[in-house]
Amino acid sequence: MNNKVIFDTDPGIDDAMAILFAHASGKIDLMGITTVFGNATIENATRNALYLKQRFSIATNVSAGADTPLVVPAGEPTTFVHGQNGLGDIDLPDTIPLETDPRSAFDFIIDTVREYPNEITLIAVGRLTNLALALQKAPDIIPLVKEVVVMGGAFGHNGHTGNVSPYAEANIIGDPHAADIVFTANWPLTVVGLDVTQQTIMSNAYIENLRNESKVYGEFIYQISRFYSDFHKQSAGLDGFYVHDSSAVAYLLAPELFKVKQGPIRVVCEGPAIGMTLCKTIEKTFPVDDWHNKPKQQVCTDVDSQGLLDLYMQTLSL
Ligand code: BDR
Ligand code: CA
Repeated sequence: MNNKVIFDTDPGIDDAMAILFAHASGKIDLMGITTVFGNATIENATRNALYLKQRFSIATNVSAGADTPLVVPAGEPTTFVHGQNGLGDIDLPDTIPLETDPRSAFDFIIDTVREYPNEITLIAVGRLTNLALALQKAPDIIPLVKEVVVMGGAFGHNGHTGNVSPYAEANIIGDPHAADIVFTANWPLTVVGLDVTQQTIMSNAYIENLRNESKVYGEFIYQISRFYSDFHKQSAGLDGFYVHDSSAVAYLLAPELFKVKQGPIRVVCEGPAIGMTLCKTIEKTFPVDDWHNKPKQQVCTDVDSQGLLDLYMQTLSL
């Protein structure tokens, strides 16, 4: 039976690539795409989700979500990474002649989880605001969610500690309070952070190959990813780009590609280390211990990068 997934996202170039990965896999029923501010404004993120739905005939609901974090002030969309329009500044219509679901993202999540108890996997690859709002409004959904997979955070494995600050990753620093709520809820959760996503690089040669191999998706991915590739060249000297959001989809499709460790996770919510994610793996209890009594979650510590790249290529080569 296919995994029923709600995909919470801020498309976003790598978000779009991850949505296409999930769609093309044939192993995921996309019950809904819920959008959140981040890589783009909420308007652009939602328009981009609708664009993907229309262009690639993805049978799914699109619900617009949060346009601002729970507590910290809203930053500007990261257009220097994803382009003004969120999809690498390819030509896009201003509006798409498709309706969004009338419910806001968090209500859509609540209703769908209640409708399909123990069947829904939440994959979240943007700020965690929508998931936190759903938890705040309806904590009864916690035991009804099958699994949560989050792209976000950095735990220092393989030397990866942050990409916005020295110790914070974009999706977490963008709404640290939401992330702390989501990580400390008593549901089974796996974090796919920079520890593994920065271990896997899609080189420009890889994307050229995908352009040739994937009749349906290749040209589109090539076009949207030029901006992303330029950003990575300038900021990190890379030939190509890190595989962030698609790594979360890969975790669901092929968890054997990843190594994990377990422990409660907290997020720093103020000060210079705001957005830092910390997983306590030692069993000892301390006199002061805000991890104690929080549920153990999973953090990915290593990935078979070649296996992941092969899986993406194979899956998209339709
Ligand atoms: C995350 O930030 C965004 O730019 C990407 O879409 C990804 O979800 C990586 O830090
Ligand atoms: Ca994202």
